[in-house]
Amino acid sequence: MIDKNAIIRVFHVHKRYGSKNALIDVTFDVAKNEFLFISGPNGAGKSSLLKLLYLAEGVSEGEILIDGINLSRISRKRIPLLRRKIGVIFQDFKLIPTKTVFENVALVLEVAGNKKHTIQKKVKRLLRAGGMEEKLDSYPAGLSSGEQQRVAFARAVAGDPKIILADEPTGSLDDESAGIILDILKKLHVLGTTVIIATHNKELIHTISARTIYLEKGRLKQDIPRTSKIISL
Ligand SMILES: Nc1ncnc2c1ncn2[C@@H]1O[C@H](COP(=O)(O)OP(=O)(O)OP(=O)(O)O)[C@@H](O)[C@H]1O
Ligand SMILES: [Mg+2]
Repeated sequence: MIDKNAIIRVFHVHKRYGSKNALIDVTFDVAKNEFLFISGPNGAGKSSLLKLLYLAEGVSEGEILIDGINLSRISRKRIPLLRRKIGVIFQDFKLIPTKTVFENVALVLEVAGNKKHTIQKKVKRLLRAGGMEEKLDSYPAGLSSGEQQRVAFARAVAGDPKIILADEPTGSLDDESAGIILDILKKLHVLGTTVIIATHNKELIHTISARTIYLEKGRLKQDIPRTSKIISL
């Protein structure tokens, strides 16, 4: 069945790394403006799935559509345009080591062609919200993991993406910082952003009533709707 409201469609997707099956026959849709958790133990395939959604890697089999675009058929020229609709927080941050905190976040806005003045204002506002205003000129190597995660978060939301993909976004954060980031994600969701969070942190999943897809050994084992969230995984 075609769901006209779906912003993401994952259809019988397999992902293999050599002989390793990271994802096996995974199918699900994500509605526009949905808030979705992807859960499951270490090695379940959560990051692999997000990498496919971000076009960091290609599927081995199956199809993925984002905003109506089939990722297997997208032309090289259109990939950057599609990526701009997606903000990503990687599990290992992926900040650029030779750029400062300010420059790491500003880059997204520069690529999108924003004016210098707009960039200055926006980057400072985002970093202030994450308590990073004192570290604008620091390099990633000089930051704690929690601070790097906050910069990665500011970078992910800087371009006002339609979709946010977050891989363990609170993994390195203390409870207070994790709470701040979750609050921002909830606010962005209320404003219309589709939010997908991959995490094995059950506590995090239980703090928000949201649909949860549960992966195990590469297979989609459960798809628990928002309303019946009491089921323990
Ligand atoms: N580049 C790769 N080469 C080989 N195997 C890989 C690669 N990336 C992932 N895998 C394997 O695929 C499986 C799924 O990995 P993935 O990183 O997606 O799990 P995950 O659910 O994100 O785990 P975690 O909770 O530890 O982040 C694992 O068995 C992993 O070893
Ligand atoms: Mg992972």
